[in-house]
Amino acid sequence: MADYKVGDVVWHEGDISREERWKALKAKGCTLWFTGLSGSGKSTIASALEQALVNRGVFSYRLDGDNVRMGLNAGPKILQEIHGNSEAQAKRFGLGFSAEDRAENIRRIGEVTKLFADAGCVSMTSFISPYRKDRDLCRKLHATAKPAPIDFIEVFVDTPVEVCEKRDPKGLYKKARADIAAGKNPGFTGLDDPYEAPDKPELVLKTADLSIEQSVAKCMELLKSKGIIR
Ligand SMILES: Nc1ncnc2c1ncn2[C@@H]1O[C@H](COP(=O)(O)OP(=O)(O)O)[C@@H](O)[C@H]1O
Ligand SMILES: [Mg+2]
Repeated sequence: MADYKVGDVVWHEGDISREERWKALKAKGCTLWFTGLSGSGKSTIASALEQALVNRGVFSYRLDGDNVRMGLNAGPKILQEIHGNSEAQAKRFGLGFSAEDRAENIRRIGEVTKLFADAGCVSMTSFISPYRKDRDLCRKLHATAKPAPIDFIEVFVDTPVEVCEKRDPKGLYKKARADIAAGKNPGFTGLDDPYEAPDKPELVLKTADLSIEQSVAKCMELLKSKGIIR
């Protein structure tokens, strides 16, 4: 079978239901989707939240943008250099930073985080995820999860670009500015590529006014209010 269509593959429910699994694990899965500019604080806050959750015995895991782009969603060059793909395979399966590739990156991560959540994990993603329609697709994937919806919590890490550029933890803004000055288009979100802010995020963290601890506390409060943690 070279290709298949909807209906050709059927969801296999298994012998243990999600409900039974979560009950046995004393866990409740969900996805916390952190979105915001590079340097806004997504990874920092998600990491601190993961630590706070794990310290309380909550099964929690972070899917971080850069980490995922080193493996599951690696770019063509990485696939060739590290994974030994041919040039043709690398072109076909590797993901760069074009709008199309970013969309596929986010879709795949939306599917993976949904599976982690289904397993009973407080699953966190920290991707810029600049386009609303890509994030909305992930929301939909959770809303239509089988056998029942899974909580999708969009956390907008709302840090002005000026603040992000000042922080520039990886020197990426500096590099992008130099490219722009040289007449190139680096396609850098917030500089020469758009960031579409969420319309109705479940949580907004204005990190210019909040400490990392305060942001973590806000996430914890929200998880409590949704009955995900006690
Ligand atoms: N209030 C704050 N909240 C989050 N991060 C902050 C804050 N103040 C300073 N920072 C710093 O900003 C940087 C954010 O980087 P990072 O978390 O890697 O961003 P992102 O994952 O969104 O690209 C880190 O160096 C962090 O220490
Ligand atoms: Mg990050």
